[in-house]
Amino acid sequence: MQIRPLTGGLGAEIIDADIRRSDDFEGVFAAFKQYSVIVMREQQITPEDHIRFAERFGVINVNRFFQPIDGYPQIASVLKEATQTEAVGEMWHTDQSYDEAPAMGSILHAIEVPDVGGDTMFASMGMAYEALSPKFKEMIVGLKAWHSSRHGFGMAAADAESSQDGRIGNAHLATQDNLHPVVIRHPLTGRKGLYVNPDFTTHIEGLSASESAALLEFLYEHCKQPEFQCRVRWKAGDVTMWDNQATWHKAINDYPGSRRFMHRITVEGRGLEAA
Ligand code: SIN
Repeated sequence: MQIRPLTGGLGAEIIDADIRRSDDFEGVFAAFKQYSVIVMREQQITPEDHIRFAERFGVINVNRFFQPIDGYPQIASVLKEATQTEAVGEMWHTDQSYDEAPAMGSILHAIEVPDVGGDTMFASMGMAYEALSPKFKEMIVGLKAWHSSRHGFGMAAADAESSQDGRIGNAHLATQDNLHPVVIRHPLTGRKGLYVNPDFTTHIEGLSASESAALLEFLYEHCKQPEFQCRVRWKAGDVTMWDNQATWHKAINDYPGSRRFMHRITVEGRGLEAA
């Protein structure tokens, strides 16, 4: 399998992958564990192929909030019409960190992309953790943080363009609040990594509101360093899978007046273990 790393630390393209071939799975899975973000270019796939590929990794999570594509409840529509201004997923986040057993991976298939723009950024939470000083690591290692779906998908988000136009719905189902370790041991690799994110983490258990806000702000600024990032520039047909327990991601909304349409499947994870 021919692998081309995207940066010194995160992400890789698998040049000769065909996600329909089950024979390729071992190599694809190894690359997923090693690089956390894997890009497979120009896949000629149907929704069924997308589903079969996802099921090799685990059980598909049927998303509560995203509009599914017609006929496939397992596939969420990630859409921005040319007339819309908000993109879904613009803020740095980790998919479904508010769940008790947060999502393991997400697989995005580009159906229609702008001529230029609409990239996705990723950040490595393993690299971000490793770059902290030993004393700081000691300070945060036993902490836990709350994550919630309420502010992003509940009634508090009812005025957002994506709620108003129906791309996001079921606000009444946004009732998830869960506590996870701030530093986790990755279930597949054993690598330690940070597990807080700007979109869904609300506060750190046991700290005052101002202490929690200051610590989270520091961690977010730290994690946003370009040294921990990679960027995927899309062409229609490309499939990218990322590890939600090892990365953040962010959709870049820099294509006003163009349409961008992606199919996304999310694979369920298991409960997270503290490092
Ligand atoms: C997402 O946040 O899951 C979507 C990312 C993207 O559209 O690039």
